[in-house]
Amino acid sequence: VRRVAILISGGGSNMVELVRSMTGDHPARPVLVASNDPAAAGLARAAELGVPTAAVDHRAFKGDRAAFEAALLDPLLAARPDIICLAGFMRILTPDFVRRFEGRMLNIHPSLLPKYPGLHTHARALEAGDREAGATVHLVTSVLDDGPILGQARVPVQPGDTAATLAARVLKAEHRLYPAALRRFAGGDASRLDL
Ligand code: GAR
Repeated sequence: VRRVAILISGGGSNMVELVRSMTGDHPARPVLVASNDPAAAGLARAAELGVPTAAVDHRAFKGDRAAFEAALLDPLLAARPDIICLAGFMRILTPDFVRRFEGRMLNIHPSLLPKYPGLHTHARALEAGDREAGATVHLVTSVLDDGPILGQARVPVQPGDTAATLAARVLKAEHRLYPAALRRFAGGDASRLDL
């Protein structure tokens, strides 16, 4: 079985879906949920699901990304992950960190990449008058929200949508997409999934 570590920063709803999916004949199992925020609600949810957790508070490192990552690597390497899933992890990673897990670190981003890398994706999609929105799972490279796409899920933009209503619709699609993309990837299939 492939060992999966999941990095979060917040509520961790995608993490919960990933953890719940890794059962039965799934080729992977969760071995760690780690957060840069000790108060992240997702840490408690992971513990309830029986997954070991770790917190490394980035604020203790005063902007020194390399020092933060060195501290994060302690619990991460101890868990011996084969695959790392970023799931609402809101810290930019250095090229050194990314290189260490090249080809086996996944991220989910709440837009149809290459549209809208970075923040405020839903507001930007509405501002542009897009008729559809969605989410992307991709392999992480040292370029933010770039890298080979493993899968995308599309949703319609509805009349009257706000960034919040659109975000909620996209998040539901994320919950279908990320477990499906991880299952395929962990099973050795890196071909693109479209939902
Ligand atoms: C998700 O919408 C995810 O795509 C997004 O944060 C949310 C986390 O929700 N990720 C990013 O914006 C990454 N830059 P969750 O904690 O409930 O999974």
